[in-house]
Amino acid sequence: MSFPSLKIGKHIVKIPIMQGGMGVGISWDKLAGSVSAEGGIGVISTVGTGYYQNKEFAKGLSFGRPFGSDSFYSKEALFKIFENARKICGDKPLASNVLYAINDYGRVVRESCEAGADIIITGAGLPTNMPEFTEDFPDVALVPIVSSAKALKILNKRWKADTNEFQMPSS
Ligand SMILES: Cc1cc2nc3c(=O)[nH]c(=O)nc-3n(C[C@H](O)[C@H](O)[C@H](O)COP(=O)(O)O)c2cc1C
Repeated sequence: MSFPSLKIGKHIVKIPIMQGGMGVGISWDKLAGSVSAEGGIGVISTVGTGYYQNKEFAKGLSFGRPFGSDSFYSKEALFKIFENARKICGDKPLASNVLYAINDYGRVVRESCEAGADIIITGAGLPTNMPEFTEDFPDVALVPIVSSAKALKILNKRWKADTNEFQMPSS
């Protein structure tokens, strides 16, 4: 069976299958790296990275659990997850999943770009200001998860004003 390739921003995905971002700890380096290596889109979850590798990167623990925004989400762990995923998939398109509802949304998006994400996928809210956090990373494609045509129209209007890039599909 053959599939047409998929273009997302500047990235060509050989097989148009996207693995869903799954936290905590389900879609990290091994799953996402393997999906990307096979030609799909592997999606690294940024949720709860402080738990990665037995909480090695968590800055503070409370009752044995990563505690505080710098600990539950660990930038260092996210970088390590991307580094290990890249060992599996090389430079094939690899995505990061950042929920809009989190406190540090902008920071996590920016750090995902720094860690080497090619695509940022955001659900759990309407990310009207998403492009603002990726300004310095013009090759990174932005993929909002929307649940209605109305939400898509709002984003298109906002993002077009900001970046002149996002276009509604015709029809
Ligand atoms: C265990 C689990 C964890 C998930 N965690 C996230 C998440 O962190 N972020 C997100 O955007 N979606 C999350 N999802 C949603 C999936 O990415 C996907 O969009 C959803 O499961 C729909 O795909 P499906 O119909 O094939 O299950 C999660 C789903 C599952 C089953």
